Amino acid sequence: MTVSKNITWHSATVTRADREKMNSHKSAILWFTGLSGAGKSSVAHAVEDRLFKLGCRTYVLDGDNIRHGLCKDLGFSDADRTENIRRIGEVSKLFTDSGVMALTAFISPFRSDRDAVRELVDDGDFIEIYCKCDLSVCEERDVKGLYKKARAGEIPEFTGINSPYEEPLKSEITVDTAAQSIDESVEQIINALADRNIISIN
Ligand code: ADX
Repeated sequence: MTVSKNITWHSATVTRADREKMNSHKSAILWFTGLSGAGKSSVAHAVEDRLFKLGCRTYVLDGDNIRHGLCKDLGFSDADRTENIRRIGEVSKLFTDSGVMALTAFISPFRSDRDAVRELVDDGDFIEIYCKCDLSVCEERDVKGLYKKARAGEIPEFTGINSPYEEPLKSEITVDTAAQSIDESVEQIINALADRNIISIN
């Protein structure tokens, strides 16, 4: 890997605080994690919809979409997943600095990768949202037909089948996507963001 030398950090004149003041909300990373089919993308987009209607500046970074562009050179080996999450972490950090709330929907199966993003940003900026859903429920839903393929041996290293998923131990928010509706999960997340003074809902 080439490492750049002779580079100097240039501080912005317009600061994150300026941007947050103009936006009337704080920026943060809402990091959705969970198995494929657990509802990360659905809940993230539904939360974005609510935030947008509340006048917040938001953007969803979604696993399948990002793998069409920024991360199209990456596969699903442990090392490639780590690099995927590292890149998304860096991009999310830029969003946060720009005053925008980044909602990320990636399986992000490894605790150490998620914790590395947590470490990358200021305290309180990383909000881990665990979309908790049993493998059996995800497999039953099998919206993309991938579990069936994985069980048939057609997808090597498929999360939950032949590649691990490490549950969060300290997520800021856990939504039980097996038991509750998308609307209920959205409500829970919006209230938690208000409790943390990231947004104002009154
Ligand atoms: S991550 O593990 O690196 O965080 P990411 O969220 O970007 O994964 O991509 C996951 C999506 O890619 C899944 O929702 C699924 O549609 C698709 N996919 C294709 N192959 C695999 C695989 N081997 N394991 C998990 N997801 C896969």
